Amino acid sequence: MGIALAEALLGNGHHLTVWNRTPEKADDLVARGARRARSATEAVAVSPTTIVCLDNYETLQRVFAPSDGSTAGGTVINLTSGTPNEARAASAWFADRGIDYLDGAVMVPPPAVGTPGAVLLYSGARDVFDRHAGALASLGEPRYLGDDVGLAVLYNTALLEMMYATMNGWLHAAALLDSANVSAQEFSELALGWFMPAVVDYASLAEQAPELDAAEYPGALGTLAMNLNALEHIARTSEEQGVHTDQPRVMKQIAEQAVAAGYGTQNYLAVYELFKAARTRS
Ligand SMILES: NC(=O)c1ccc[n+]([C@@H]2O[C@H](COP(=O)([O-])OP(=O)(O)OC[C@H]3O[C@@H](n4cnc5c(N)ncnc54)[C@H](OP(=O)(O)O)[C@@H]3O)[C@@H](O)[C@H]2O)c1
Repeated sequence: MGIALAEALLGNGHHLTVWNRTPEKADDLVARGARRARSATEAVAVSPTTIVCLDNYETLQRVFAPSDGSTAGGTVINLTSGTPNEARAASAWFADRGIDYLDGAVMVPPPAVGTPGAVLLYSGARDVFDRHAGALASLGEPRYLGDDVGLAVLYNTALLEMMYATMNGWLHAAALLDSANVSAQEFSELALGWFMPAVVDYASLAEQAPELDAAEYPGALGTLAMNLNALEHIARTSEEQGVHTDQPRVMKQIAEQAVAAGYGTQNYLAVYELFKAARTRS
């Protein structure tokens, strides 16, 4: 990802200093005009703005721990994936050294960085974002989420959760059909060609989002208890067909908990209340 970010910046005419633990990975960038720094601290010291992308925040700490504060006055924009508390701790660490900090998340794979449709999320001080928004546009559309510096990684995590839940739904459903020798391709024509767009319609979910905010889940067109029935069938069919049962069991248990919590006569979206309630309990 670091290479993709650097290439997008170089391609847009930015002066670039690069550093990576394994220096030879930057050889192509240096051949294309980037200057190579001997350490992360040196890279920050010679640059008014530094974009960091590492595997995690532990590495971020390790890489910047030797910093003696000589970089005060610059800005670090950190695109490493992590948790909101890690982002807040990093922001405080850089602030203690007089360095402005913006946290961010790359929402596309490396080949898509800098291409139309690429989106990167940012959070932290608005003025820091505004000062860099022009340069950040080289990487993809910059979306500012708010001054809580933990928001970018929180959005990132939430969106990835949606992605994995959707993929797991498709993969498990395909495994159910595979148990009857239906190919994934054949199943997907119906599942992705018709069912998902027509029935699990994202536009209709967007229309229902205000109901989540208002905590209103009218059950006139179908209740959570009715959905529990469907989830029960998925769990039992998985068992019968000899495919993995954990995922349907967990979905069924969640619906059972929501019914036990009194949401049985409301619609399925009332599960949202159960998910939120875990936060107030913790
Ligand atoms: N790849 C994607 O599709 C994608 C998409 C969106 C977001 N992201 C996020 O982007 C970040 C980087 O992902 P990536 O795909 O580039 O991962 P990666 O290929 O594993 O690269 C990790 C980077 O961290 C460096 N690093 C690891 N341990 C280190 C240490 N102890 N000291 C110094 N440097 C160290 C690596 O240096 P070396 O080169 O020396 O190993 C490398 O530059 C992650 O937070 C990831 O979640 C990735």
